[in-house]
Amino acid sequence: MASSKGDLAGRVRVDDGPDGLALIVDETVASLSSKETNRSALVWDALALPVLATTERPSVLILGLGGGTAARALRRLRPEAQIVGVELDAEVIRLAKKHFDLDALKVEVIHQDALEFLRKDRRQFDLILDDVFVGYARSIHKPRWLPRPGFRLAKRRLKEGGVLVSNALAEAKYLQRGMQELFPGLLRLRVPDFENQILVAGQLAALEILEQASSKQLNGIKVERPGSVGTLLPRSITDSRWLRLARLAVSLTAAALCRTRFRRSETIHRCCGGESTWTCHGNPTGIP
Ligand SMILES: C[S@@+](CC[C@H](N)C(=O)[O-])C[C@H]1O[C@@H](n2cnc3c(N)ncnc32)[C@H](O)[C@@H]1O
Repeated sequence: MASSKGDLAGRVRVDDGPDGLALIVDETVASLSSKETNRSALVWDALALPVLATTERPSVLILGLGGGTAARALRRLRPEAQIVGVELDAEVIRLAKKHFDLDALKVEVIHQDALEFLRKDRRQFDLILDDVFVGYARSIHKPRWLPRPGFRLAKRRLKEGGVLVSNALAEAKYLQRGMQELFPGLLRLRVPDFENQILVAGQLAALEILEQASSKQLNGIKVERPGSVGTLLPRSITDSRWLRLARLAVSLTAAALCRTRFRRSETIHRCCGGESTWTCHGNPTGIP
């Protein structure tokens, strides 16, 4: 059963659950320090996988560092990587250092808005991972500056032949189209049991390396070539306040229903990694 660390209750907290230590941001699992060593791939592994298409000692920028799960996966694949992580929330950084051993990952941690970083920092990277999410529980979404102008700014921060990766949920089609406008090639990575789409954009040669990854490296991750995206309603419409409110209402109702049925309720969440079903950790009322 999951347990919440006492002093950490709030919009950002750490839960010690059956899958390992979880960093919960706004009722969503942002980061996970998995207990299993021989587990199949998680969505954070798919985010890190495109580093295989770069050099042995790549420079990597992570937008939305969180608890550093993707950074840890990157380190496993490329121990010599130079990693810069940008995170908006000071409390997330504090908990990542305290509970997720962030310092041991040797990441240059930058406490800043990712958009501001993209506008102001002049460094260039072999790989940029966008794992920025905002919003509450099932209404979690990408910030308004993605795909535009975020991806265009990110492309400027990529070295020649560099790769851009984005973790997408509901807005996957918008992000895909935004990336296809800027890069010659695009791949989609899928992880069993996660609804996330990991979009990978870059030069065709780099993406071919990824397509040739061994089944051991893939560890269950599927590599797909998506077609081009058809006509889309503007994001301003699909993203409207009313739609957000409706999603939030569904979240709260589902949480309330779960609370009625289950004794413990604080870990009712949807994973930023996009678990497709509601997760209620706890025993149904009346069952010991
Ligand atoms: C899904 S979590 C990131 C998980 C992380 N990549 C990992 O591997 O553990 C999303 C993160 O984006 C951060 N975030 C949201 N808006 C941001 C912004 N404008 N700039 C930087 N980080 C932001 C949130 O605070 C949250 O920690």
